[in-house]
Amino acid sequence: MKRIATLFTLILLSAYFVHCLGQSISKPGMEARIDSVLSLMTLKEKIGQLNLYSAGTEFTGPGEKTGRTKERYERFVGGEVGSVLNMLGAKNTYDLQKLVVEKSRLGIPLLFAYDVIHGYKTMFPIPLAESASWDLDLMQRTAAAAARESAASGLTWTFAPMIDVSRDARWGRVMEGGGEDTYLGSLIAKARVKGFQGQSLDDVYTIAACAKHFAGYGFVESGMDYNTVDITHHTLYNYVLPPFQAAVEEAGVATVMNAFNEIGGIPSTANEHLQRDLLKGAWDFDGMVVSDWNSLGELLVHGVAADTADAAKLAMTAGSDMDMEGEVYIRGLADAIEQGHVKMKHLDDAVKRILRVKFALGLFDDPYRYSDEEREKNNVNTQAHRDLAREAGRKSVVLLKNDKNLLPLAKSGKIALIGPLAADKDTPLANWRAQAEGGSAVSLQEGLEAALKGKAEVVYAEGCKLSVGYNDFGNKLTIEEEDRSGFAAAISAAKSADVVVMALGESAYMSGEARSRAFVGMPGLQLELLQKIYQVNQNIVLVLMNGRPMSIPWEAENIPAILEAWHLGTEAGHALADVLLGDYNPAGKLTVSFPRISGQVPYYNQKMSGRPTSTPPHMVFFVHHMDVDRSALFPFGYGLSYTTFEYGTIQLDKSSMKAGEKIQVSIELKNTGSREGEEVVQLYIRDRVAQVTRPIKELKGFQKVSLKAGESNTIRFELSEEDLKYYNHKLEYKADPGQFDVMLGGNSRDLKTAQFELVK
Ligand code: NOJ
Repeated sequence: MKRIATLFTLILLSAYFVHCLGQSISKPGMEARIDSVLSLMTLKEKIGQLNLYSAGTEFTGPGEKTGRTKERYERFVGGEVGSVLNMLGAKNTYDLQKLVVEKSRLGIPLLFAYDVIHGYKTMFPIPLAESASWDLDLMQRTAAAAARESAASGLTWTFAPMIDVSRDARWGRVMEGGGEDTYLGSLIAKARVKGFQGQSLDDVYTIAACAKHFAGYGFVESGMDYNTVDITHHTLYNYVLPPFQAAVEEAGVATVMNAFNEIGGIPSTANEHLQRDLLKGAWDFDGMVVSDWNSLGELLVHGVAADTADAAKLAMTAGSDMDMEGEVYIRGLADAIEQGHVKMKHLDDAVKRILRVKFALGLFDDPYRYSDEEREKNNVNTQAHRDLAREAGRKSVVLLKNDKNLLPLAKSGKIALIGPLAADKDTPLANWRAQAEGGSAVSLQEGLEAALKGKAEVVYAEGCKLSVGYNDFGNKLTIEEEDRSGFAAAISAAKSADVVVMALGESAYMSGEARSRAFVGMPGLQLELLQKIYQVNQNIVLVLMNGRPMSIPWEAENIPAILEAWHLGTEAGHALADVLLGDYNPAGKLTVSFPRISGQVPYYNQKMSGRPTSTPPHMVFFVHHMDVDRSALFPFGYGLSYTTFEYGTIQLDKSSMKAGEKIQVSIELKNTGSREGEEVVQLYIRDRVAQVTRPIKELKGFQKVSLKAGESNTIRFELSEEDLKYYNHKLEYKADPGQFDVMLGGNSRDLKTAQFELVK
């Protein structure tokens, strides 16, 4: 008991020491207005404010799916619903807002929420793809464009960004995040929050963001969505929490969503330490915490709540302010309060937080300010947004292999375009496609044909269908798993072509929420088709479209050129044509490691272990799988260009650094190819001896630089003690004195190294 108490004190202390002053969403005079609204509210109205209700035609979780708005008219008017999700459009939101504002006793305006994950109508690349651009400004701009379209359509709040760090290709939701690294993930979290929220929440072109899922959701066991999470404080503090802390303290995110999963035996929704001690305590968060879909109700299923009143008590005490689709507060909170199990001060605090977000959005000044049909017409799916989607698409592509410079393609001759995704206008829209119309993306075929018109011949053959995709209702979308009838036409097209472009991978609904896969290789007949084509024409460019890292060992070994094209959104085909034909020189770098086989789960910032992989000759007693190399097929940070870069040797301005000092790190980078290109120069460190085991490398900086053919430049970084800090076994955030490696290069595997010492 004493140990736990000591550890707990330390947790609080350490968190206290590292936090910088949080950003408030409150403005001068706002708190008095919030208090005056609160003072008018009955218990029932207070509880109603906590209720988030799915009211539109969209439905993003399990449950009854029809006719709900009408049935619940009474509840809106009776003040039993405080906010709504999945209700869309300027007109619909206006009408419902009017009902509540004019007919409920206090007329407190609703928030309108929706999952705007990578666009509203114009789809941008999936977040995982965009993270491969390492372009924070781009990510901020696409979030801002998505916010603009959403805000013009009556929305005030998005359930994004998802900032769960994940190392597991099997987890379907890797597509929604920024990859496996915490440092990069924290920067991306800030960029996206700033993009959605802009300079000020009360700007009618911005919406409230939501950092989710707090916390640990990316570490579900075996990558299986909704599964148990059992990680240590070491992992939680060093790898999972920093992006959330950055979103709160540095970007001022207005809301945070908790997670379905338990962590350390306590479901996140009932986790007082995470929500009260850290988020609302040490990090000074003054926005509100929303539950995930029925995660309050699921406290009973987890087996930590005996009944609804008990679930309400646990969630409220832990600091879950708003109940999404659980109706647990509506049904159980009054009882829990009556029985003395919930403190009124906790309820009042939750209500105030929700009102604060509403005030910050300007809804108390004008509840209809986001529901303007004229603005909706002029701001949704504009040419400017489509241009941005094309720019984002090109920047998200990662060139994985390019033997004999097969790419870029010549704009002449005959191209065979083969594969189930080659003419697919739907898959690039991906999962979480919000209001994009199905089949509205520019396909690869359309993109190539538009760019090559009158210059080269493009012959298309589907080859096979792509199976296994499930929509939100669990229906299989295509089932032609065994149909080889398209092979012959594809083979014949390949035979007579100068080059074959094959578009293979995953369909839209093979990644995303509830789309975990144990097998992360090429689904269906696609590999068989590829191998057949390879027998007749080896000049193949493989264009991979997928929402997760895939294991493609045969492809990587045999296919001369591979382009990772993810799910690129509305302008996918044009963006891909730009890259394939060399009008844009690819510069993307992976933010997730690609496994060699499904069971491998590699990630770059691993620990040494006591028995690290040795170089041959070695015995059997070391960390390895017997059947596959430990390393990733394509490592974190990896990506090629149509030009080449050469790194010089690392220069340090000193060999030791004292606390308070900085060390200058530089390296010469030369473009050794024949065309201009961009390179993401990455800086990693390794703490050689520490109080706890440290990763073999950790990203601590990067720069995306452009160099002309033959041009050289000195790339400079600065390191301070702050960059060397981590949470130790006592959860103190500090750096250990001693030797450090600093490593620079174009990916996490191929690095130059130098040493310095931290002296204390
Ligand atoms: C469940 C998902 O986990 C969450 O991310 C999403 O925002 C909600 N459903 C609402 O659709």
